[in-house]
Amino acid sequence: MYFRSLGRWLKGLVLTLLISNPASAIDLDISDEQSVKDAASTTVYAMMTYYHGNETGHIPGAFASKWWEGSALFLALLQYWHFTGDTTYNDELRVGLQWQSGSDGDYMPSNYSSYLGNDDQMFWGLAAMTAAELKFADVSDGFSWLSLAQGVFNTQIKRWDTSACDGGMRWQIWPYESGYTMKNSISNGGLFQLSARLARYTNDETYATWARKIWNWSLSSPLLNSSTWNVADSTNMDNDCATQGNTQWSYNYGTYMMGAAYMYNYTNGSSDWLSAVDGLMNKTFDQFFPDSNGGIFEEVVCEPSESCNDNEILFKGLVSSWLSFTALLVPSTYSTILPKLQASGQAAAKSCTGHNNNTCGVRWYQSEYDGWIGMEEEISATNIFVANMIQFQSSAPVTSTTGGNSSSDPTAGENDTSSSTETQKAITTGDKAGAGILTVVFVAGWVGLMSWTVLGG
Ligand SMILES: *[C@@H]1O[C@H](CO)[C@@H](O)[C@H](O)[C@H]1NC(C)=O
Ligand SMILES: *[C@@H]1O[C@H](CO)[C@@H](O)[C@H](O)[C@H]1NC(C)=O
Ligand SMILES: *[C@@H]1O[C@H](CO)[C@@H](O)[C@H](O)[C@H]1NC(C)=O
Ligand SMILES: *[C@@H]1O[C@H](CO)[C@@H](O)[C@H](O)[C@H]1NC(C)=O
Ligand SMILES: *[C@@H]1O[C@H](CO)[C@@H](O)[C@H](O)[C@H]1NC(C)=O
Ligand SMILES: *[C@@H]1O[C@H](CO)[C@@H](O)[C@H](O)[C@H]1NC(C)=O
Ligand SMILES: *[C@@H]1O[C@H](CO)[C@@H](O)[C@H](O)[C@H]1NC(C)=O
Ligand SMILES: *[C@@H]1O[C@H](CO)[C@@H](O)[C@H](O)[C@H]1NC(C)=O
Ligand SMILES: *[C@@H]1O[C@H](CO)[C@@H](O)[C@H](O)[C@H]1NC(C)=O
Ligand SMILES: *[C@@H]1O[C@H](CO)[C@@H](O)[C@H](O)[C@H]1NC(C)=O
Repeated sequence: MYFRSLGRWLKGLVLTLLISNPASAIDLDISDEQSVKDAASTTVYAMMTYYHGNETGHIPGAFASKWWEGSALFLALLQYWHFTGDTTYNDELRVGLQWQSGSDGDYMPSNYSSYLGNDDQMFWGLAAMTAAELKFADVSDGFSWLSLAQGVFNTQIKRWDTSACDGGMRWQIWPYESGYTMKNSISNGGLFQLSARLARYTNDETYATWARKIWNWSLSSPLLNSSTWNVADSTNMDNDCATQGNTQWSYNYGTYMMGAAYMYNYTNGSSDWLSAVDGLMNKTFDQFFPDSNGGIFEEVVCEPSESCNDNEILFKGLVSSWLSFTALLVPSTYSTILPKLQASGQAAAKSCTGHNNNTCGVRWYQSEYDGWIGMEEEISATNIFVANMIQFQSSAPVTSTTGGNSSSDPTAGENDTSSSTETQKAITTGDKAGAGILTVVFVAGWVGLMSWTVLGG
């Protein structure tokens, strides 16, 4: 009797010790290559438990209610593979990136195209661009990665809108979408970044001219200010872009910074682009890596109130990647950027202590698990770990003259007659109603509208 109880007590004690054993935390030494790889491998595995696109009955790369997030997942996989050499997920990556490109090779697949924003399509273009720049081999029976990025570029520049505000990309593509009457930073800064990257990869000045045009327009609008380096979220066409929705999101800063970094590198070191990079980088650190929380990356609008939605949870991960690329393309920023990535990577690891299986939370600055769980948390954690790999593996994105061999098709996407309002003449009532419903689902979770309603409306 006595011994049995003692045995049960001991068993209980052992279980308690196991459950609270800190060995279940990601034990990260940020300056040790293997340790960083192990951390990334843990979170990328967790991230992929949410991906079913390679299973029977599922569609590669498709996340029905959040289509753009597939691009965020594949961006993380590309960088994970490139910086760690682990090829485990490359098949899913290749198949999913191709599948969602649609029949015209411009990431306007017909299942989703009627309720997309320019930003949604743009992020897939960035994923394809990244594949080309990281030398992910082209497939033999599909679109080349470079042509997919060119397809997105070609279809988007046709939507450059001069009906209000003297230019700019609208947020959403179709008149029945609520974001059709807004111009926003992620759509404009996103196409700016894509153009700059195409310019550097192809050395074709056409893309650089577009990058400059979008940059200039952004400066002329309330979105981007080159004296304060404030980046607003959105501006409204109803009053000819006189006012701004100034909610502060890190990815709006990050995308303009990343594009400026590519333009700096493309121009062989222009001082104007260098001050743009420095200005946006400084402001990004001031705003989103506050001293008050130890300089750890924080999505400041939503983290303290724990109100970040799925999109917003992804921003830190995207910007972490963009900072790491900026450090490689603008070597003078490396010594400023690396310590920030290290501190945030170390903090993120401490947040990955949930559920006894290294589940990562949202708020890295808390240095402990905060109870949140989801694919987006794992994507962002993967991105901050992989961003830290630039210490050990500093091979920069390539160009067509430095080892990149993805096939170019400057007319990619031109055959798509249904990708812009000008070319798409007739939408049936049935299509409209269906799209309207899906738009509600999409818009409800998307940030631009929310910030506009809060600040502008
Ligand atoms: C970790 O545990 C949670 C809670 O049981 C579960 O939802 C999640 O899928 C697990 N993650 C992994 C990577 O197994
Ligand atoms: C899908 O990919 C995962 C890895 O992410 C792998 O474990 C699983 O076996 C794959 N499933 C199929 C059906 O190929
Ligand atoms: C579009 O939906 C059809 C039917 O569900 C599916 O077979 C196809 O793979 C989907 N395409 C994409 C790009 O998601
Ligand atoms: C292009 O580069 C990739 C990655 O380096 C390589 O695997 C592939 O064989 C190359 N293709 C051609 C046609 O040279
Ligand atoms: C952008 O603005 C600069 C400075 O005003 C000007 O020199 C340049 O021509 C403009 N470029 C484009 C493409 O609009
Ligand atoms: C930039 O911001 C400053 C300070 O708010 C303001 O005075 C200035 O007018 C802004 N510049 C532009 C071009 O909007
Ligand atoms: C940058 O330098 C390279 C090598 O000298 C040259 O080929 C390229 O044209 C230059 N780019 C620009 C935009 O001046
Ligand atoms: C452009 O990026 C490459 C690759 O990192 C780097 O070696 C080069 O110094 C950069 N160019 C400039 C002008 O900084
Ligand atoms: C960025 O910050 C550094 C360090 O505080 C400062 O030296 C530099 O002048 C700043 N650059 C810009 C463009 O704001
Ligand atoms: C576009 O159409 C032309 C003419 O039909 C064809 O030659 C070309 O291959 C098509 N391009 C793509 C990307 O489908």
